[in-house]
This record gives sequence, structure tokens and C-alpha cells, in this order.
Amino acid sequence: MSRLTRPAGNLRLGVNIDHVATVRNARGGDVPDPVRAARLAEAAGADGITAHLREDRRHIRDADIEALMRDITVPLNFEMAATDEMQQIALRHKPHAVCIVPERREERTTEGGLEVAREESRLAQFIAPLREAGCRVSIFIAADRAQIEAAARIGAPVIELHTGAYCDAHAEGRLAERDAEFARLRDMAAFAHDLGLEVHAGHGLTFDTVRPIAALPEIMELNIGHFLIGEAIFSGLDSAIRRMRSEMDAARRDAFDSGVA
Ligand code: PXP
Repeated sequence: MSRLTRPAGNLRLGVNIDHVATVRNARGGDVPDPVRAARLAEAAGADGITAHLREDRRHIRDADIEALMRDITVPLNFEMAATDEMQQIALRHKPHAVCIVPERREERTTEGGLEVAREESRLAQFIAPLREAGCRVSIFIAADRAQIEAAARIGAPVIELHTGAYCDAHAEGRLAERDAEFARLRDMAAFAHDLGLEVHAGHGLTFDTVRPIAALPEIMELNIGHFLIGEAIFSGLDSAIRRMRSEMDAARRDAFDSGVA
């Protein structure tokens, strides 16, 4: 497994605005408006906006996707389950990127990665029209060799590595496990890059956990939501996003300067 001597490209930040919609929906009205948050995120330096239209519409709704497609200028990364309904919605809007995620109704958030290896031929057929429509398809998976190989075989150009286990282990003080999870992410980012996949990462990232991930030279995009929206309560969304950007950029710069990246 080769390691890059330079970063694969500039590290992009995709800001996930789902939880602005969670707060809005708690009262059933129109505020806070996720599209307003998306515009503010753009102004604060987000390279893209990420939104997950869940089958139960618990946060983002169809009208939000329409408004995001109309009103934002940075690329939209549309997260969705691999269902016919979602495929039709994606084909209607043709967002810049479509990230295929697993979805279980009873889960609180996207708990694991997609089991690509288990349903390879269905997923290959599922993503083909999305690719033909010009969407950049990414597959959200665990840092697991078999899943990465399967993602490459179905023709996905991009994978997003699930950082949830690494972040949870950090938050709960299980430091040996955190380090083992990090090593897996590091090795599998290099493995996926060697296979020709573009590598993204996300889930659960905070100011405390983002730097080691941002320093991995193969990673080209991080998608971050829940922590930023929570942090916005204390410091404002603009300030939270700017700080996340600067943590990411500093980690990248330090790794490059010290010859790691
Ligand atoms: N990436 C993917 C594929 C996700 O499903 C999510 C959560 O919707 C995120 C990133 C962002 O995770 P978080 O909200 O924990 O930062």
C-alpha cells in the first residue's frame, strides 16, 4: 500500500445542514431555515452543502432539496438510501454529488456503512443511471478492505469512509480503540486511493477529532454536520465553520510540512 508524498488535492469541507431542519421540525414551522444556514455556510468557507433526505423525512424535506438546488452556489451532496423513490428524486434534481448511505428507520443517525459487498449487482445497477445523469456517486462505507473493493467493482468513483467508530471511541475515552480505528482509516484511505477511488470521510467529527483525519493525504473531502450545528448555539454558525476550516487547513499544512503528507 503506497503512501502519498503530497496531498491528493485540497481538502474540501462539506457542511451538513440536516440538523438545522431537525430544530425547525421540532416546532413544525419554517424556522430555522436550513437553506439560510447553507448560504451562511457558503459564506463561511464551506466548499459544498450536504443534506440527507431520509425516507421518513425526519429532518430534510423534499422542498428543502428543491430550495437548495435553486439557491446555493456551491455543489450539493445529496445523501440518500438506495431506494427507487430516492433515485427518482436524484434523477429529477441531478445534484453535483449523490452519496448512497444505509438507512434504518429506527436508527438515530446513520449507524454503519453500506454493505456493498452483500448487494453488489443491485448497487451497480442502482448507481449506473445516476452516473449517466452526471452525478458524482459516492458510497458511504466502513474502513474495510472488502467493502472498498466492492465499491470499486460496482463503478463508484468516490467512497466516503465512516469516521463514527473513531469519533465515538475518542469521546468515550477508549483511546486504544480510537487509535486502532484511526489506523484502519489511515490504511484504508491509502488502499482506496491506490485502487483509483476518490476518498472522502465523515460522521461524528469535532474540533477534537478532525485534525488526524484531515492530515491523511488521500482524503479530499470531509462532511461534517451535527457538531457544527451544535457548536453554532454557542459561537454562531459562521464562527464554528471558520474554526473547523482552520483546524482542517492547519492539520493538512502541518502534515505536509513535516513530510507525513
Ligand atoms: N457523512 C455521511 C455519509 C452522513 O450520513 C453524515 C450524517 O448524516 C455525515 C457525513 C455527517 O455526520 P455528522 O452529522 O455526525 O457530522
